[in-house]
Amino acid sequence: SAAEKGGWPTFMKKEISEEPEAVGKTLIGRIVDGAVHLPELESFDGLLTDIDRIVVLACGTAAYASLVGKYAIESWARIPVDVELSHEFHYRDPVIGERTLVVSVSQSGETMDTLLAVQYAKKHGARTLSICNTQGATIPRESDAVLYTHAGPEVAVASTKAFVAQITALYLLGLHLATIRGTLDAPAVSALVEELQNLPAKLDQVVETSGERIADFARWMGDVQSVLFLGRHAGYPIALEGALKLKELAYIHAEGFAAGELKHGPIALIEPGQLVIVIVPSPRDPNSLHPKVISNIQEIRARGARVIAVAEIGDVEVLPFADEVIRIPLAGPLFEPLLAVVPLHVFAMELATAKGLDVDQPRNLAKSVTVE
Ligand code: G6P
Repeated sequence: SAAEKGGWPTFMKKEISEEPEAVGKTLIGRIVDGAVHLPELESFDGLLTDIDRIVVLACGTAAYASLVGKYAIESWARIPVDVELSHEFHYRDPVIGERTLVVSVSQSGETMDTLLAVQYAKKHGARTLSICNTQGATIPRESDAVLYTHAGPEVAVASTKAFVAQITALYLLGLHLATIRGTLDAPAVSALVEELQNLPAKLDQVVETSGERIADFARWMGDVQSVLFLGRHAGYPIALEGALKLKELAYIHAEGFAAGELKHGPIALIEPGQLVIVIVPSPRDPNSLHPKVISNIQEIRARGARVIAVAEIGDVEVLPFADEVIRIPLAGPLFEPLLAVVPLHVFAMELATAKGLDVDQPRNLAKSVTVE
C-alpha cells in the first residue's frame, strides 16, 4: 500500500534511498573504540584462529556482495576465500572439512539452494555462519552462528539495500578475523573501521546527487538493447551486480566483465553506439588500476562505444574519454564499490521506469526462491 511505501512511488525507490542507513544500522553496536565487536562470533573464536579457508555460499545479488567481501577478507585477514553459487556447491563433491568456515549470505534466509548447501556443509564437518537480513529465518536457525544485517525489511523483488548491508557484514567479519589472527594491527583496523563509519554519509551524498542526472539520461536511453558493465578489483563484482539489476528490472540484455578481460573476448562485442558503463578506480592510490581502466575506456571509445563512467570526484583524467561522468565521493579502494553501486541501482530502476515497467515486481522473479 501507499502507506507502507512511506510516500515513495515504489519500494525500489524507497529501498535505494535506504542504502545509507542499511550500512549504518548494520554497524550499530559492532564498533567499540575503533575495534570490531562481534559477540555473535564468540563461540567461534578458537575456530576462527584455526580455519584455513572460507567458503561463501549465496545466490544472485548476495553472491556479488560475497565476491566484494572476498577482496576485503583476503586482503585483511590473509585467509583464502572462495565464493560459490549455492546451487553448484553441493552437487560437485566440494573439498571442505573441520578447518573450513562456511559463510552463507542470504537476505531472506529462506533460499532453498543456499539452505541445502549449508546443510551439506554441516554434514561434512564445516562450521557454518549465516549472514542474514531476516530474524529467525531457516538458514540462520540451521547455522552454528549468525551475523544479522540490519537493512530493514526489503520488499521490492530485486535486492538493493540488502546488498550494501551484506558487504558491510562481510567487512566486519574480515576485520574481526584480521584482529584475532593478528594480520592487521590496531591502528590499521581502526583506520578501516573509520572508513566503514564514514560510508553512510557518503552514500547519502551519492543518493542525493545521482538521482536526477540518471533519470535524465535514462529517458533518452529507453530503447537501448544491450549494456556492458566494466570494473576491476572490487569494482568487478559491482559491474556484475549492475548488469544483473538491469536484466531483472529493465529486461535489457546486460553483462558485467572484469575490465582486464576485455581484450580476451568481450571487446569483440563493441560496435558503434554500444553503451558501456565503467566503474573507474580512484587515481589516488599508488597501486591504482586507474591508468589501465582509462586505457580500456580509450580502446572501446575508439570503436565507437558510448561510455558512462562512475568516477571519483576530482578525477579529471576520465573527462576526455567519457560521454557522461557520474561522481562518487572519495573513499579507499575497498570502499569505493559500495558507493559506485548506488548509481547502478538507480540506473536500472530509472531505465525500467522509462520503459513503463513494474520495478517492484519484475516478471518471472520471486523475492525468495524457496524451491530448488
Ligand atoms: C532471488 C531474488 C534476488 C536475490 C536472490 C537471493 O532470486 O530475486 O534479488 O538476490 O533470490 O536471495 P537471498 O534472500 O538468498 O539473498
